[in-house]
Amino acid sequence: IYNDYDHLSQWVAHYVARKINQAEKKGDKPFVLGLPTGSSPIGTYQELVKLYQAGKVSFKNVITFNMDEYVGIPEDHPQSYHFFMWDNLFKHIDIPKENVNILNGNATDLEKECCDYEQRIKDAGGIDLFLGGIGPDGHIAFNEPGSSLSSKTRIKTLTYDTIVANSRFFDNDVNKVPKMALTVGVGTVMAAHEVLIIVNGYKKARALQKVVEEGVNHMWTVSMLQMHRHGIICCDEEASMEL
Ligand code: GLP
Repeated sequence: IYNDYDHLSQWVAHYVARKINQAEKKGDKPFVLGLPTGSSPIGTYQELVKLYQAGKVSFKNVITFNMDEYVGIPEDHPQSYHFFMWDNLFKHIDIPKENVNILNGNATDLEKECCDYEQRIKDAGGIDLFLGGIGPDGHIAFNEPGSSLSSKTRIKTLTYDTIVANSRFFDNDVNKVPKMALTVGVGTVMAAHEVLIIVNGYKKARALQKVVEEGVNHMWTVSMLQMHRHGIICCDEEASMEL
């Protein structure tokens, strides 16, 4: 638990950079990093860019897999997760374009796209560290309440709550928010060697209490982290209010 969002973001960014540097030293394979979108990781991405600019970390040997993407909005739409990732992180660092993996929400065969994505993760040797955020209802990626805790990458219909929560990015108009998304499953995230979840702000306090202090439950899908050998939650004071 950190006092505020800035300290939380700094800690997470340094942690990620340390893991990348350790892998670089070992030199046997690229470091595979799972990444989220949303407002929660923005501070971490800004800190990572600063660390890169200061020469403290390089992403040349990092492969990334993003958690999710909306179905049916163009990649260059300002609210697509492709756009978000390039805008907030990738264009500022030295990651090779071919090392970036993001689900294609415009693929003609969406089911195949999801299967292929799982295969690409396998081919990369699995995910070393998966960063994540949580929705106010305790969801991870787009694994909405009720998702199977062993789910893999697939198409999901978004809940009304998520559509309303995300409408702030779509002119506050629920009609403009895509109704479907492609998302890694809870099982995909849990298969990572390590999972680190960022939780900030009072709006997440109830979810954090549910996922940490109550039982593992498919209605609060991040609660599955309780079963992970290397699961870390980093939060700020506001988010810890209900603990
Ligand atoms: C969306 C994303 C999640 C993210 C959540 C919370 O549902 N698919 O990956 O964790 O929003 O976003 P924020 O960090 O903006 O609160």
